[in-house]
Amino acid sequence: RRCWLIVPAAGSGTRVGGERPKQYLPLSGSPVLACTLERLYQAFPEARLCLCLKHDDSWFDPNQVPFRDWQRIDGGAERVDSVLNALRAIDSEAAPEDLVLVHDVARPCVAVDDLCKLEQAALENEAGALLATPVADTIKRDDGHGLVAQTQDRRGLWQAQTPQGFRYGLLRQALEAALGPCGIGRDRVTDESSAVEALGLFPCLVQGRRDNIKITHPEDLPMAELILQAQRA
Ligand code: CTP
Ligand code: MG
Repeated sequence: RRCWLIVPAAGSGTRVGGERPKQYLPLSGSPVLACTLERLYQAFPEARLCLCLKHDDSWFDPNQVPFRDWQRIDGGAERVDSVLNALRAIDSEAAPEDLVLVHDVARPCVAVDDLCKLEQAALENEAGALLATPVADTIKRDDGHGLVAQTQDRRGLWQAQTPQGFRYGLLRQALEAALGPCGIGRDRVTDESSAVEALGLFPCLVQGRRDNIKITHPEDLPMAELILQAQRA
């Protein structure tokens, strides 16, 4: 059975800002995209990589891809559209039971150990699996005017990370349904798990390391740099 990797990398990085999209900013000397792909390659050297990129991406260099077996996919309007483009592109090659792991290009610090743990859990659970960490901060809900309306009970709350892994057939069905006429809609499909949950299934939470951060805001970049340094030490 084949393992497929989908890496959505077709975003604009508007919250990080600047001219160069965040996936091409340097992180200990290499572009973020190259760092992320290197981690994935260490864990899954034989996998087929589907790399979602903007059609007019002028920063991408194929030398940044360590995989032997890979293909470029056109990104869509939202993250979910990029992932779905990849799933549709491999339709004739992927078997329903094949494992698909989806990992954001913006998470370069994911540990190889966690990648392997996640793959195992995704293979063992019919509803798939995702890396996640228990919420450590106290979570407030605002009243819409900057005042605290409520403190959430954080027991049982997790922060979802990537990768998230599912069988091809299930993931395709879940994402197509989520964006279909009776689906939960684009705004609520911020990860693959949410679409699978909407089918009434229960993906498995795999506790991952807290340093698998997503580079989202400018200050996340120096943090990622320090994390990679610490992981190498
Ligand atoms: N992504 C994608 N296609 C899109 C939008 C996002 O492939 N149409 C990817 C991003 O490249 C990133 C991941 O989805 O790897 C998570 O998205 P996010 O962190 O929001 O990145 P951006 O959309 O690039 O950032 P921003 O929302 O700040 O513009
Ligand atoms: Mg985004």
